[in-house]
Amino acid sequence: MANITYSEQTFDCHNDETVLECLARHGVELPSSCRAGVCQTCMVKAVEGTPPKDAQTGLKPQLQKQGYFLACICKPEQDLSFIDPDDSALPQIAATVVSKTRFNDNIMRLRLKPESDFEFQPGQFLNIHREDGLVRSYSIASLPKQGYLELHVERVKNGKMSNWLHKQVAMGGKLNIDGPHGDCFYIDDNPEQNLLLIGTGTGLAPLWGILHDALSKGHKGEIHLFHGSRSSDKIYLVDELKKLAELHSNFFYTACISGQDNQGYTAGRANEVALREIPKLDGYRVYLCGHPEMVNSTKKKTFLAGASMNDIHADAFTLSNS
Ligand code: FES
Repeated sequence: MANITYSEQTFDCHNDETVLECLARHGVELPSSCRAGVCQTCMVKAVEGTPPKDAQTGLKPQLQKQGYFLACICKPEQDLSFIDPDDSALPQIAATVVSKTRFNDNIMRLRLKPESDFEFQPGQFLNIHREDGLVRSYSIASLPKQGYLELHVERVKNGKMSNWLHKQVAMGGKLNIDGPHGDCFYIDDNPEQNLLLIGTGTGLAPLWGILHDALSKGHKGEIHLFHGSRSSDKIYLVDELKKLAELHSNFFYTACISGQDNQGYTAGRANEVALREIPKLDGYRVYLCGHPEMVNSTKKKTFLAGASMNDIHADAFTLSNS
C-alpha cells in the first residue's frame, strides 16, 4: 500500500486502487472525465516519488520528463506527492541582472543570475514580476550549464515591462522571477529524429536554447531552423547561426524576411518558406515559437504535412498592448 499526498493531505491508497479512486474514497475531488487515460483531464504532476510508467501513457515525452501523470490510470507503486498543475503558483525568487547587450535597436539580450536554485530546460519560459504587480513571460535561451538565464527582450511600443527592462533596469538590478513553465524543449529520446524549428521575432530565444541543447547532446538527425522577421534590421543572430551551420553538417539555417528589404535573405514568411522547402514532415519533431497567429496556423499545417500531434511543440507569445 502506498501513501499519496495531495493538497497538503496524505491518504492511504489500496493496492488495486487508482489515485483518482483513492481521492474520491476520501471525498477529495479532482477534475476528471473519461477515467480511462484518454482525455488527460485528470493530469497531475508528481513533486515527490516517481509515477509508474504506464500512468504516463499518451503524454508527450516533455510532460513525462517533468513528472506529469494521469490520476485515473495511476496505481502507485511507491509513496507519491503530487499537485494539480493548474493550481500551482510557483514561488518567486530573486535574480540579478548580470548583462544587457543589444542585438539591434529593439531587441536586447538580457542575462540574469538566479539567487537560488532554478532548474529549467532551454526553451521553457519564466515570468518576471514587477513590484507593482505587472507580470510578463520570457523564454529562456541559455543552457543550465551556462549558469545564467538568457532572455531576448523586444521593446514593444507602449510596452510597460519591455520599456522598463530596456531603459530603467540597470546592471546589478534585482528582478523577481518564477518558473520554469512550458513543455517546449528538447529531449534526447530519439537522437536520429529530424527537427524542424520555426520562429518569428524573439521566438528565436527558445529555439536558440533548443538548438544548442540538441547540438550539445549530440543530436544526429537533421535540424532545420527557419527564423523570420518583417525587415532586415529586425532579424538577429544571423552571423552566429550561419557559423553554427558551417560547424555542424546536420544543422541548416534559413533567415527569412517577409518585407521588401529582403536582399541577402530568403524572401517570405518563415513558416511558409519552411513548408515549401520541407513539404513532408512524417517523423519530424516540430517546434513553433513566436506570434500566436503564426504558431496556431502552422501547428495545423505541420500536422497535415505528416508530423504527429505528440511531436508538435508550440510556444505562442502572449500579446500585450501595454
Ligand atoms: S479522466 Fe480522462 S485521462 Fe483521466
